[in-house]
Amino acid sequence: MSEPKKPKFRSAEWFGRTDRDGFIYRSWVKNRGVPHDQFDGRPVIGICNTFSELTPCNSHFRTIADYVKQGVLDAGGFPLEFPVMSLGETMLRPTAMLFRNLASMDVEESIRANPIDGVVLLFGCDKTTPALLMGAASCDVPAIGVSGGPMLSGKWRGQDVGSGTGVWQMSEEVRAGRMPMADFFEAESCMHRSHGHCMTMGTASTMASMVEALGIGLPGNAAFPAVDGRRNVIARLAGRRIVEMVKEDLRMSRILTRDAFENAITALAAIGGSTNAVIHLTAIAGRIGVKLELEDFDRIGSRLPCLVNLQPSGHYLMEDFCYAGGLPAVLRELGQAGVLHKDALTANGKTIWANNQDAPCYNREVIFAYDKPFKAAAGIAVLRGNLAPDGAVIKPSAATPSLLQHRGRAVVFEDIADFHKRIDDESLDIDETCVMVLKNCGPKGYPGMAEAGNMPLPPKVLRKGITDMVRVSDARMSGTAYGTVVLHTAPEAAAGGPLALVRNGDIIELDVAKRRLHLEVTDAELVRRKADWKGPPQHLARGYYKLYVDHVTQANRGADLDFIVGKSGAAVPRDNH
Ligand code: FES
Repeated sequence: MSEPKKPKFRSAEWFGRTDRDGFIYRSWVKNRGVPHDQFDGRPVIGICNTFSELTPCNSHFRTIADYVKQGVLDAGGFPLEFPVMSLGETMLRPTAMLFRNLASMDVEESIRANPIDGVVLLFGCDKTTPALLMGAASCDVPAIGVSGGPMLSGKWRGQDVGSGTGVWQMSEEVRAGRMPMADFFEAESCMHRSHGHCMTMGTASTMASMVEALGIGLPGNAAFPAVDGRRNVIARLAGRRIVEMVKEDLRMSRILTRDAFENAITALAAIGGSTNAVIHLTAIAGRIGVKLELEDFDRIGSRLPCLVNLQPSGHYLMEDFCYAGGLPAVLRELGQAGVLHKDALTANGKTIWANNQDAPCYNREVIFAYDKPFKAAAGIAVLRGNLAPDGAVIKPSAATPSLLQHRGRAVVFEDIADFHKRIDDESLDIDETCVMVLKNCGPKGYPGMAEAGNMPLPPKVLRKGITDMVRVSDARMSGTAYGTVVLHTAPEAAAGGPLALVRNGDIIELDVAKRRLHLEVTDAELVRRKADWKGPPQHLARGYYKLYVDHVTQANRGADLDFIVGKSGAAVPRDNH
């Protein structure tokens, strides 16, 4: 039996040793049938798996991991799969976002503490994607992302029904008395009918597209349905490629450059993507060390057209997007229009332009040409004003055009409990010209910055056939949601931001063209109100809740924890004996 070879990769600090500790590191791994010759210095590839039956969108990840493993073996690597905290968007309370940073810490420490030379990140449901990218970026090892893929289109009574988007529409129909509960239950059984994540251009599909646009995933990563054989091919190819990336020392920081983030912002506008991507991209950039400001999203993205006709901004679903050509067809349009950094390096070792310059489009109803877009100037807009000194965002492509300039009387809900208590009350003094204001739903306030910003409208307004009103909050909204909804107002109410000082009857002016969000109350009156302001009670004063509330940054900084912004690299910790 030969001795292990000379150390080369970081895993050799564990497996390439001839001392007592080398015995320990290898011997226990051999219990699962690993032969001695596998410790010959070949790249050890971690497969970071967010499988969980509590995360329905990721429940097929054991199969995907098997394909990745096969790819790693194909290329002569040594695959070792490991679990990390999984975040199921539909299950976790008070909100999955509260745990994004916790999961990212799990990922970071799991990679650094183990004999891992490169990692394949398996993500799908909304927060799993940023959590894994953030954690791996803080280690800056070679990494490649594999998304789990969207579900097949929902089908109900011959019609397409989209994840989330259809839920918001149908629940408003029930509240307006137009949809019987039996229909509601039936639709619920027809919406999600295969493995995969939400199949609208919600946050999961948006982040899968960001993975592709950033270059940290392979071409085609975003759109192949979870149950399409090509999803498994992508997984296997990623397994093969990560072995080469380790040999090339192609670390995340060589891919996640400023140009890559600008490409992601450009793609975000072109797909009509989720507002949540603003927070997640900012947080990922913060980990890898790229400076990204809220204004970058407006400056780069807001004047770009939306090319993709997908719910919630449009009509179609991810399955249609796949058959139309997927993100490669969008990136080709952007490159031809001269708005893409074509030289940005991607995980397969080629530039983003080399990957996408010949990508075909098969359906112009789904993916529009840049010079004949689906919607003009549709990227996310960043608002400022005395109500949002550190910014707020709105997605004009999902808003009602006539409400983008609006002045109205504030109807204030102090927190989400107050909202639920009063919104269905017929005596609530509100009509469609009012501005609904929701406080204490930001990072510290909820806590975790819940997707509560797309407040349901009052029934008496819905009965008039009105489907949208101006809404302002420090919350996020689901990427599948829509409406004239101002989100991420910073500083948040619970941190003493001006939002905390809004009172019923105040006048609020929204002017998206001027990027303005203004509270028509004098500075002197706001100072008086601030002197009387008391912060909301803290929900739990121990454990992770406390750590989070004490250290979370505001939305414009990515809502990361202040002490984990940045990276520590992949230095090998001291031995455990
Ligand atoms: Fe998982 Fe929508 S609930 S992606």
